[in-house]
Parts: sequence; structure tokens; C-alpha cells
Amino acid sequence: MLKPEIEDGQASLADPAFRADVLNGLAARPRAIPARWFYDRRGSELFEAITTLDEYYPTRTETAILDAACADIGDRVGTGRAVIEFGSGSSTKTPILLRCIAPAAYVPIDISGDFLRESAAGLADAFPAIEVYPVEANFMQPVRLPAPVADLPKLGFFPGSTIGNLTAFGAVDLLRTMRASLGEGSMLLIGIDRIKPADILVPAYDDARGVTAAFNLNLIERINRELDGDLPVDAFRHRAIWNDDAARIEMHLEALRDVSFHVDGRAFSIAAGESIHTENSHKYGPRDARALLRAGGWTPVAEWTDARDWFGLILAEAQPRPMAP
Ligand code: AVJ
Repeated sequence: MLKPEIEDGQASLADPAFRADVLNGLAARPRAIPARWFYDRRGSELFEAITTLDEYYPTRTETAILDAACADIGDRVGTGRAVIEFGSGSSTKTPILLRCIAPAAYVPIDISGDFLRESAAGLADAFPAIEVYPVEANFMQPVRLPAPVADLPKLGFFPGSTIGNLTAFGAVDLLRTMRASLGEGSMLLIGIDRIKPADILVPAYDDARGVTAAFNLNLIERINRELDGDLPVDAFRHRAIWNDDAARIEMHLEALRDVSFHVDGRAFSIAAGESIHTENSHKYGPRDARALLRAGGWTPVAEWTDARDWFGLILAEAQPRPMAP
């Protein structure tokens, strides 16, 4: 009596937003599932593994830029701020920033509560002088900041080129939402990956060891686990392509043969060669990045890059809307 109830209970515990995105995404043409659903436990672990791959340059490049720019950032940002990190995950970049600017408070915002509390506790231990106020929330929506930081000057921190997951339309929405959450006069330190040759970009998203492939294919396994799916994982392959017109890497799950399957009791089929679009990773030239920030209400005030100009770390300010002729 008890056991079936527990199993049913587990099935119905699936995030209703995940179910809606998957069912709608599989019914749509082209098929597409939002990239944020990659990050269950296993997906987050696989992403951590990606960040250490030889081919995946962004993490180590941005970390090196942050290290090198530390004193400079400290001068421009000053001490005593509240740092608000959007999608904090298990970031290894955060301690570097906290050391550079000695803030009064740190507010990590993440949708994954377990991860959030673990890493918040770790940082609170490592930085006893900084008050840590974790907020479990989807940062795509306006966030109400904890009362104790309301009157502190603020620095938003959005590293990793996570902004690249969004189309320009969505990115501008997010930048404006961040501006509304942080307030005029706030600063934002944001990492944005640069456009570079496809023979560097594609391997970064299609590594020799197949870690990125596993990361992409884990979405199918997650659907099977959490949404009562019966997709044959071996009928799909990972694809990473450079879309030059849109200046983005796209990841797809391509069907190797005609497949029929169910998700949450609904029937779907995909023909051989068709695919499910699972991620965009937009890249920006330096001017593109600055135009994007301005469109979102953030005025660039400083920028740092690496020796190869592969990645940009931009400091911007939410200045009053400029008078324009
Ligand atoms: C976390 C969105 C920045 O786009 O480079 C890495 C995710 N996907 N490899 C990126 C990702 C495949 C990553 N971001």
C-alpha cells in the first residue's frame, strides 16, 4: 500500500515548470527545451567537469582575467558593497572577487536551493567579515533583496558568460530586470565570451572525451527519470554547431533513427536526422557586448580581457537614463 504511493509521489514531485517546458518544447517546431533544465545534480556535476576540460577555455580564461584585474576592480568598485551574484552555482570565481573588493555582504541567488546553501555556508566560513544572505530564486524574475543589504551600494556579479544562453531579446530583458532589482547607481561585473574562430569554439562544446555530449544527453535521462519518459538514449547523439549568422554555438540532440517515445503519458516521435535544440551560447564582439549592456540600461565603465582577446570581463554602471538629442 505504502510503496506505490511513494513511487507515485516521486513522479508527481517533478517540477511542473520542467514538465511544461519539455511537453511544449517537444510539441514545438523546431523542438527546443530551455538550457536551464540541464542542471540537475548530475548535470551540475558534468558542467563542473566541463569547466576543467582542455578544450573548454571560458572558465580558466575568465578566472585568469579576474585574478589579473583584481586590484583594478578593487579601485573602481571600492569596499563595503553588497555583492549580488546571479546564478551562483558552485562558483570558484566568487572568492577571488570577494578578496579583491572586501564587500560588506554577499547575496548568492540560485534556483537550486541545496547547492546554494552548501556553497553559501562554505563562503560564510571562509569570509567571516562578510554577511552572507543566500536567496533561492529564479534570477530571470525581479528579486527582492534581503532587508539588511537594501541600503548598501551594490555590485551585481554575473560571470561565466551565462548571459550567452539568452537571445539578445532575452538578454536585454534580463539586464533590465537586474537593473530594477539592484537599483540605479549600482554596478555590474559581467563576463561575456567573445566571437572567435569556429575551430576553437566547436571543440569547446564538443570535447574529445565526450563530457559535453554526456551533459547534453543527461537531459534525456532527466526527462526519463523525472517525467516518466521512455526515450531511448542510444537513439540520440550530441551535436554542437557554430551558427555564424546568429553568432552562437548551438547544441542539439539529434535522432540517429526514427524514434517514438512517451513523456508523462504523451506520445511523441522524431524522424532520423531531426533534433531537439537544447542550448544557445551566444558570443559577442567587444562592441556588440557594450551595445547589449547599454540596451539593458548598463553603461560600460571598464573592461578587461586576456592576451588572446578570447573573453571579456566588463564593469558597468546603472547610470540615470542619459539625455539624448
Ligand atoms: C554555463 C551557459 C556559460 O554556454 O559555455 C558549457 C554552458 N554548455 N558547455 C556555456 C555550457 C556546454 C555554458 N554556460
